[in-house]
Amino acid sequence: MKITLSKDSPVNANVDLLVVGVSSKRPAQDPLVRKLDRAVGGALVTAMKDEEFKGKAGQTLRLPGSGRLKAKKLMLVGLGDGSPSAATLRLYAVKAARAAAEKGSLGLHALDGSEDTLAVLGEGVTTGAYKYTRYFTGARKPKKQLGRVAILVGGRPTAAQRRAIASGLALADSVNLARDLVNTPANDLTATNLADIAQAEAKEAGIGCKIYDKRAIKKLGMPLLLAVNQGSHEEPRFIHMTYKPKGVKKPPRVVFVGKGLTFDSGGLCLKPAAAMLDMKIDMAGSATTIGTVLAAARLRLPIEVHALVGSTDNMNGSNAYRPGDVFPSRNGKTVEIINTDAEGRLVLADALAFATELKPDYVIDHATLTGACLVALGAYRAAMFANDEELLADYQAAAERSGEDFWNLPLDDDLKDQLKSSIADLKHTGARYGGTITAALFLREFVGDCKWAHLDIAGPSYLERIHGIHPKGGTGFGVVTAIEFLRGLT
Ligand code: BES
Ligand code: MN
Ligand code: ZN
Repeated sequence: MKITLSKDSPVNANVDLLVVGVSSKRPAQDPLVRKLDRAVGGALVTAMKDEEFKGKAGQTLRLPGSGRLKAKKLMLVGLGDGSPSAATLRLYAVKAARAAAEKGSLGLHALDGSEDTLAVLGEGVTTGAYKYTRYFTGARKPKKQLGRVAILVGGRPTAAQRRAIASGLALADSVNLARDLVNTPANDLTATNLADIAQAEAKEAGIGCKIYDKRAIKKLGMPLLLAVNQGSHEEPRFIHMTYKPKGVKKPPRVVFVGKGLTFDSGGLCLKPAAAMLDMKIDMAGSATTIGTVLAAARLRLPIEVHALVGSTDNMNGSNAYRPGDVFPSRNGKTVEIINTDAEGRLVLADALAFATELKPDYVIDHATLTGACLVALGAYRAAMFANDEELLADYQAAAERSGEDFWNLPLDDDLKDQLKSSIADLKHTGARYGGTITAALFLREFVGDCKWAHLDIAGPSYLERIHGIHPKGGTGFGVVTAIEFLRGLT
């Protein structure tokens, strides 16, 4: 896919599909709509009436581009009332790319043509065109991909406009990488593979990346990661990526931590078959974490960003860890294992303890941590916890700008008793009710007094069907909000 900025007017754009955004405020009076309507001999306004196109955000209307329109087909996308939010602009571009995907070339009206708008449009067409086709052969292999995208800015494009597009692409590439990682089946994405990919991506982005293999993890001291790995034939990996901005004195330091379970069988507390089916996605937190540090580097944000990933699968070989086992952890607390299917919080605990040692301003973890989160919030929304009011407000504001859906849940001390063990410092699971909260309370034991947010992305990281800007399958959920959060720190 090649994206260019074009000075062609919508009427003159020579593309397979022309897409124009229309506000819901008297859409038929919109000067561009009227111009297009004249070009197609009045068919546009008629279709808007017939199809009840009102310009509601995300609403679409398709029409053949007959008459004096150079484009073969025309599509309107509603932008809602008032000046469109970044989320609405993103949806506009995503819908345009999806509609053009099998058609060839796309002409996308740039609306106000501002840099902010262009960055979001560049991002949206790139994430909107995303498809995971790695394993298709023959007839299933997509024949036509979205080829050329012309963003119609109306005049001669400026250098600033070009930079804006490039920044949108940098972000989108990181989101799409996260999606690829989530979509890759567990037989092709072991902890070793994940670490290799992180290393290669880090090299390309010009940032640091240190990989710890099993021996190095033992030496480093991550007993809980090793406990989860015990039942596996595969080695674990601990990944530490570092982006340090150039020429910035004392930048804020943010450490992202991701759950990197390349497959979660449940271990000895085996999952039923249906619940196990999608468990290749249990490394989505790591995908978001890796995507975020790469995006921060590509965007040259003036923030020091670390990505930490504890990676293994959760299997049940003869040496698998057992319910009732007790292990030490990186920060010294001992943990009694209750249910081997609650493996994510163990891997995160050691990684969070490592994060605190980096003396960060903020620690942010992403994890597909609990099924209970889906029960509480449904598939489209992530849970957000934070031990600091200002961080919580900042992260919520970032989510407002990204359009990704989060909901704040409480670190409810009333549930803390459930983690009391009669044999060790901590039990690692509580009762069924409030399972998302007790998981967060367990993690809190490992962050010391760092400002910390925990994002349970079990629902929205992988979807059964297209929803809003998100594709079916891996979504890369969380990367855009994380970048918005980092941007908000400067
Ligand atoms: N990876 C799962 C959580 C999950 C479930 C993610 C569904 C995405 C979709 C996690 O490791 C897990 O198995 N959690 C258990 C915890 C329980 C044993 C306390 C769960 O949610 O059942
Ligand atoms: Mn599990
Ligand atoms: Zn898991």
